[in-house]
Amino acid sequence: MKEIFDEITLGNLHLKNRLVRSATWEGIAAPDGGIDERSYGIYEELAAGGVGAIISGFTSVAANDRYFDGMMRLCDDALVPQYARLTKTVHAHGTPVIAQLALGAFYRDTPTGILQVEPDDMTPIEIEDVEHWFVDAAVRAQQAGFDGVQLHVAHFFFLSRFVSPAINHRTDEYGGSTENRARIVLDILAGIRAATPNLHVSAKVNCSDFTPGGIDPTEALALCRLLAQGGIDSIEISGNGTSVAGVRPGQGEAYFAPFAARLSQEVAVPVICVGGFRSREVMQHLLDSSRIEALSLSRPLLFDPAFPAKLEAGEVDASGCVSCNACYHTPNHACRFRR
Ligand SMILES: Cc1cc2nc3c(=O)[nH]c(=O)nc-3n(C[C@H](O)[C@H](O)[C@H](O)COP(=O)(O)O)c2cc1C
Repeated sequence: MKEIFDEITLGNLHLKNRLVRSATWEGIAAPDGGIDERSYGIYEELAAGGVGAIISGFTSVAANDRYFDGMMRLCDDALVPQYARLTKTVHAHGTPVIAQLALGAFYRDTPTGILQVEPDDMTPIEIEDVEHWFVDAAVRAQQAGFDGVQLHVAHFFFLSRFVSPAINHRTDEYGGSTENRARIVLDILAGIRAATPNLHVSAKVNCSDFTPGGIDPTEALALCRLLAQGGIDSIEISGNGTSVAGVRPGQGEAYFAPFAARLSQEVAVPVICVGGFRSREVMQHLLDSSRIEALSLSRPLLFDPAFPAKLEAGEVDASGCVSCNACYHTPNHACRFRR
């Protein structure tokens, strides 16, 4: 029988419970990816709040990636000391921390300016460049003290678009079959394994793109099997439609759970499920009825970073987050109704 507050191991990570902070972009890093006291404060509060592991907000692997404002970055060795302070802050609470490595989009520097280029129009050399950026960022993550990295292959960020048959129409070895579309991710995984054998490597993937011609649950299963064969340490299941609005305790919770539960029966890799966990009852039911190892939370920890500790102490049985999504538009992505 699994319990929310079991101590668990996920690959080589030791978690004090089964709750994980799902990646949450704070939008406050400097244009070069530098971070300051505000970021350290956010991660200090999260770690003090009792969550079992923290996945950072998406952290770009490229200096010229301008997909969103205020992105963290691990694209330059000079940034390592700033991120080392972040990992030290989290580790002081006995909490592992994973850097979510992402590329929002690929940008080509041209004589007339910078140009966003979609997977179909990239040269093989540009694709190899992207693979190297991810591996180099993982090396920096390790130097900064992160316990792992997570490849952001969800939410139509670059890797998610690359693996999607709705977007990728290439006819070379990077397009066509699931294996070919996944090649970039598997190459990155192999490169990170070779360069940083001790890092936990996770991937966040869509169970569905919810887009005509895109990844559907059958295709997502095939992708996850390839990741498992490639030696991934954990898979976090999400989907486009990321942060569904209006979810509240007892209403619309755990919206990606059916696919995650099915995946947990089919691969030996630990499965983490995200998306609308608000109540103890729903979380415990999913643990009881599946092989899912951990549950990840984003908005409930914006509402109250101490939600895990309060849940464990029996002070609350549910999050007060009503999934209004105002957090996407506030400074620091802070919750307007924060406890
Ligand atoms: C403000 C905000 C920022 C987010 N940033 C990221 C991110 O950097 N990377 C990511 O994979 N998902 C991101 N997400 C999605 C969450 O990780 C999560 O998958 C989604 O919100 C559903 O979980 P929840 O119901 O617990 O919020 C973000 C969500 C919010 C609300």
